[in-house]
Amino acid sequence: MSLKEEINHRKTFAIISHPDAGKTTLTEKFLLFGGAIQTAGAVKSNKITKTAASDFMEIERQRGISVATSVMAFHYRDKLINLLDTPGHKDFAEDTYRTLTAVDSVVLVIDCVKGVEAQTERLMEVCRMRDTPVIVFINKMDLEGQDPFDLLDELETKLDIKVRPLSWPISIGHTFKGVYNLYDKSLNLFDPSKTTIAKDVVQIKDLNDPKLDELVGEHAQQLREDVELIEGVYEDFDPESYMSGEIAPVFFGSAVNNFGVRELLDAFIEIAPTPRSRPTNVRMVEPTEDKFTGFVFKIHANIDPKHRDRIAFLRVCSGKFERNKFFNHVRLEKKMKFANPATFLAQDKSVVEEAFPGDVIGLYDTGNFKIGDTLTEGEQLTFQGIPSFSPEIFKELVNLDPMKSKQLEKGVQQLTDEGVAQLFVRENGNRKIIGTVGELQFEVINYRLEHEYGAKCRFEAKNYFKACWITSSDNQKLNEFKRLKVNDMVIDKDGNDVYLAPSQFLLQMEQQNFPELEFHFTSEFKTKKETA
Ligand code: G4P
Repeated sequence: MSLKEEINHRKTFAIISHPDAGKTTLTEKFLLFGGAIQTAGAVKSNKITKTAASDFMEIERQRGISVATSVMAFHYRDKLINLLDTPGHKDFAEDTYRTLTAVDSVVLVIDCVKGVEAQTERLMEVCRMRDTPVIVFINKMDLEGQDPFDLLDELETKLDIKVRPLSWPISIGHTFKGVYNLYDKSLNLFDPSKTTIAKDVVQIKDLNDPKLDELVGEHAQQLREDVELIEGVYEDFDPESYMSGEIAPVFFGSAVNNFGVRELLDAFIEIAPTPRSRPTNVRMVEPTEDKFTGFVFKIHANIDPKHRDRIAFLRVCSGKFERNKFFNHVRLEKKMKFANPATFLAQDKSVVEEAFPGDVIGLYDTGNFKIGDTLTEGEQLTFQGIPSFSPEIFKELVNLDPMKSKQLEKGVQQLTDEGVAQLFVRENGNRKIIGTVGELQFEVINYRLEHEYGAKCRFEAKNYFKACWITSSDNQKLNEFKRLKVNDMVIDKDGNDVYLAPSQFLLQMEQQNFPELEFHFTSEFKTKKETA
């Protein structure tokens, strides 16, 4: 196959949801349809039910370095689909945000009973930042959920995106009869006793066909009215608007009952983008370019201290990756080759000879990579769009064993390279502030520092509201601000100035007092001014 054919053959995406909406269940059904697994229950949920580090550690141990669940590749029809896994726990949301930088589209799962939930909103914000195309799957239609029209309104208002239903439920809950596919005008009837993956659809091109009354009885008239309303209210589905992230097609179903999943997957295959171009600090990179480029979006460490190796997950962006060929590690200005790059087809990990745009490969790493690192065939460019977001919890790291300072230093560096947490260093005195999105990460850091590096520490809570990356074209003002706020100024891992704002009120005050400064809430600065 030519490079172009390889690219057109691939679709790389992630399923995202608020915990419990059905992400794991839908993933499993996709793999069943793709023939990648044979039985239900084969996909291990990476859900952490208790908020305890021990629970997290147990899951990490089970997953081990095989990490087969991080990327699941499978074939469906004539396409190769790379499904990237995202952590289910909200404390690891940052990991999910980074994974979203490596996909070309997402499927967002919503629980029809709960509607749009907190985590759904945050995930969508990240998708909107990058104009990622989104397909919505409204799940659990076998339960007494909200009215589908209300759900669509909620999606539009809370997620700030236009929606267009492509399938429509016939009743809901215990009277749920099935879905009508508005795209290819067919009816899929729901039989709760039948949870096979067989396709069982009836073509009903004209909703006035009396066959509809025979099949769904009293619900036929409601369906006719609903569809009329939909056609009146919503514009025809426009694939271009979906591609540019302006409109999200919506499907209804019940993942656990295997219902509506095939419609979703068939539509995904048809409309979801193939590997797309990506921004770098110097130019856009097109997947069809001959020369290889790629970036690391995730690092998975082996937490067994006897095997301290890690796997860096690299998304191929252009050209062809080849085993044992020298590539350029842009940040380190170093030539590197990889003898055992891994690929993850179905549940097996195997050594791959070559990989193409859209593919994710695992590179064994002894500490050369950090998140966001770029590999090229020589060109000096760095992929953008892998920002750090402001953490929500800040704590100062206190060393409990001065004899182990070196180990602690190394451990903290490596764990923050992996993206477990963000490290900020105070200019005066080299004190370390760790920022995370959840409490669980502090327990994880504590555990790993002790078990992997033999270093003991504790954390002292710091009352900060937000981390703001500070820039200005007025150096004098910048220095004045830094001098005045010396106690709240820190440096991030890349040497950028960061102001840790103690409260929203103080942040707004500083924004007013220093109009010459720009306060950014992600490490990748946008030019527009942001408000607290
Ligand atoms: P997550 O990965 O998004 O956190 O969700 P997951 O798939 O684990 O699903 C959460 C719960 O919702 C599971 O039940 C799952 O069986 C159930 N579920 C998924 N899809 C549907 C659906 O279409 N209808 C109904 N009624 N339930 C659904 P659980 O009791 O937490 O786990 P399990 O014991 O069933 O595995």
